Amino acid sequence: MSSVGEEIALLIKSRYPLIFYESIDEEYALTELREIARSGGLIYYWWSVTEGLRKQDSEGPYYQTAEPHKALKMVVALVESKDVPPGLYVLKDFEKYLEEPVTLRLFKDVLNCVRNRRDTVVILAPRYTIPQDIETDTAHIQGGYPSEEEIKQVIAETMRDISRHNRKICVSLDTEETHKLFRILKGLSRQQIRNVITRSVIDDGVLNINDMEAIENYKRKLFDQEGLLEFCTTEDKGSIAGFPNLKQWIAERSTSFESVDSSALPAPKGVLLMGVQGCGKSLAVKVIARELKIPLYRLDIGKLYSSYIGETEQNLRRALNIVEKLSPLCLWIDEIEKAFSGMDSRADGGVSQRVFGLFLTWMQERKAGCFLAATANDVHRLPPEFLRKGRFDEVFFVDLPDPETRKELFFIHLKKRGLNPADLEYDRLADEAVDFSGAEIEQAIIAALYRSTGSREKLASRHILRQIHETKPLAVLRKEAVESLRAWAKTRTRSV
Ligand SMILES: Nc1ncnc2c1ncn2[C@@H]1O[C@H](COP(=O)(O)OP(=O)(O)OP(=O)(O)O)[C@@H](O)[C@H]1O
Ligand SMILES: [Mg+2]
Repeated sequence: MSSVGEEIALLIKSRYPLIFYESIDEEYALTELREIARSGGLIYYWWSVTEGLRKQDSEGPYYQTAEPHKALKMVVALVESKDVPPGLYVLKDFEKYLEEPVTLRLFKDVLNCVRNRRDTVVILAPRYTIPQDIETDTAHIQGGYPSEEEIKQVIAETMRDISRHNRKICVSLDTEETHKLFRILKGLSRQQIRNVITRSVIDDGVLNINDMEAIENYKRKLFDQEGLLEFCTTEDKGSIAGFPNLKQWIAERSTSFESVDSSALPAPKGVLLMGVQGCGKSLAVKVIARELKIPLYRLDIGKLYSSYIGETEQNLRRALNIVEKLSPLCLWIDEIEKAFSGMDSRADGGVSQRVFGLFLTWMQERKAGCFLAATANDVHRLPPEFLRKGRFDEVFFVDLPDPETRKELFFIHLKKRGLNPADLEYDRLADEAVDFSGAEIEQAIIAALYRSTGSREKLASRHILRQIHETKPLAVLRKEAVESLRAWAKTRTRSV
């Protein structure tokens, strides 16, 4: 039995009246529940709106029980009848009918009736929603997904099926790529795995590393239909100047998400990057995801806020749920201080406070597999809870680049624009660009390029120098703010 199966068996033993089994793999979940009933000595019943209420191995359903009211009354009758052994009542998609007040009332009667008995009710549905009235009676279980071993079987079966009807096909993946494939396919149902593998193989007859992106995309679309998470591209570590400590920290952890299940070391949980604007925080997040070899998704907290009370929390729950299904991943929250401190609790009825609380709890309790990368600019608005031990593995401070890093910045950005750094005095440019952020250095190069192109000249150092001299960097314009930020960071953070 799977670990989810064991958990359900335990809940039944501890006499939970209602288990909400959230699973997209109905076929699998039903087989599992039937087995749980059998080994626990319970009679297995199942209901759906099309088939009515049926008892294990019986020919047809109980009379007229396709109708939810009648089905519930039948359950009460069965539970209360003395000569019927205890049962496991599996109701498919029943949460939909609980929106109707009379059905909800009848359902509560059922729960009162099974309470303190060995009978248990299970709602089986692909998505968890439950009326508040009965939430405390509900044990919520997620799962029913095939294990790695089963994923392997499904892939093999699918390949066999295709090759029976089609031309020659093959799998061309090394061990590492195979692990990656399993990781992506985790959380999908058998049918979904069959679909996506078939799609990947049919076009070119081979399942290889080139299919991974499409498979990843398929999975994201499947779970995140509302678009709460944004899939982001990642960047190579060569594209970022400076950050030696962060680069080393990440390099030491670069294989943490590789081994699928057991690993001696716990996977890292996340970092908070704070600091001066335009100095590469967002860029660093993209590098981190690439180095950890996991996909990067951005969660826009602002998007979760809804004008309907209660929906914002529901939206966050939903987003975090999707995160769990897509993991391992790197979850990026940009400007986290704005996300949670933006709203006055009196003005929004406490929604932002509750959402913040929910997020903190999730941070504390989340399973391994989600690396959280957060960035912040304004430390004074950053809720102190984020700095408490255990919430992030490390808090890094991103300062203005030092002279060495500025050299690197010129080198990287000149090359990026197709220029040869050796043709320009990039050492001198770096010396002159005191207090410039990475973004400002990039900007100076771009503006100089416009200028030189406009006057039909080949770009020379003087064009860039002129641009440097004409720019007042933000660090100068907002000197006090930058200095207070540095002073604050000194004792609380580690430098990148
Ligand atoms: N250390 C760096 N190495 C390479 N490029 C950099 C660096 N810092 C900044 N840049 C350039 O500046 C651009 C803007 O930087 P980025 O958005 O990462 O800064 P940020 O710290 O997130 O700024 P903000 O606080 O405004 O969000 C980057 O896309 C990159 O082109
Ligand atoms: Mg940024």
